[in-house]
Amino acid sequence: MMIEENFKALEMRGDELVLLDQRLLPCEEKDFICRSVEDVFFAIKDMVVRGAPAIGGAAGYGVYFAAREACGDRDKFNRLCDYLINARPTAVNLAWAVNRVRKTAEESGFSLDAIRKDADDIVSEDIAMNRKIGEIGSSVIPPHATILTHCNTGALATCGWGTALGVIKTAFYEGKDVFVYADETRPRFQGARLTAWELVRAEIPAALIPDSAAATLIRDGKIDLVILGADRITANGDVANKLGTFALSVICKHYGVPFYSAAPTTTIDFSTPSGDLIPIEERDRSEVTMVNGTKVAPDEIGVYNPSFDVTPHQNITGIITECGIIREPYDMNLEILRRTLGRQNA
Ligand code: MRU
Repeated sequence: MMIEENFKALEMRGDELVLLDQRLLPCEEKDFICRSVEDVFFAIKDMVVRGAPAIGGAAGYGVYFAAREACGDRDKFNRLCDYLINARPTAVNLAWAVNRVRKTAEESGFSLDAIRKDADDIVSEDIAMNRKIGEIGSSVIPPHATILTHCNTGALATCGWGTALGVIKTAFYEGKDVFVYADETRPRFQGARLTAWELVRAEIPAALIPDSAAATLIRDGKIDLVILGADRITANGDVANKLGTFALSVICKHYGVPFYSAAPTTTIDFSTPSGDLIPIEERDRSEVTMVNGTKVAPDEIGVYNPSFDVTPHQNITGIITECGIIREPYDMNLEILRRTLGRQNA
């Protein structure tokens, strides 16, 4: 039986893009409606919708709005598309989705039907890829497994089902005895607010931990594997993901704990050779100095708030994609994958 979530991160209803406002979860389940490129830009930037594949899904509809707003003015359309790409720099799914639908617009002579269909296809393809990632990834989950995850990689972070959390859900629904430790994921608390919310709804046994508790659990042999997502994977297998991922990978490597990243191939940036070239988003200081609107640090303090970090491929046991699990040597195996997918490397 196919288990479905009864919520959606994003859904086109009529001519409106309806987003479940992730800034408000778990306290409120409220929709945020987008009717323009500007609305989609804001929703991505302010993290109403977040998670690389969900950002890509929303951006596809952003291009549809751009085509409507440009009324056949090609320069305006391209300006709006470029504007959308700049909403957040790290997750490559954003540029990938915008450029895919932009190409469809060009090739179809700006047919709104063709553009809308391509945006719809991005969503359905993402869900299908995530289901496949779940099936493939479940093979690395032992029958009894304690799994640590970071950030949110579930249905909220994608067009449906999820990547790393999708693997965990698939294993759980296959009858495996899984227990999940979810990092709270400071400073935006995607683990506490979103992953915990999804785990509770899916009735998967789990505990929420402060990020800094992960090292002790790993050292003490309490974690069988770590599985988390990716915002951008470069041609050599380096993975940009939520801040804290790199530290977890170092601890896992030190203690010999398997460390997996799960992502659709739309998250692979074949044109960037290595992780040091990935633009890392720095977000507002208030994410660190305030918690839920309450000041927790003096105004005078400087803040460094990178949203992501890069994990070198040497620390990664495998990258779980819908096309299989990519392992060392990553550069060679990713090149084979690139050719199989017919993707460009420049
Ligand atoms: O800043 P966010 O919440 O958009 O960051 C999300 C992540 O880092 C996820 O791990 C990644 O996008 C994969 S989501 C399937």
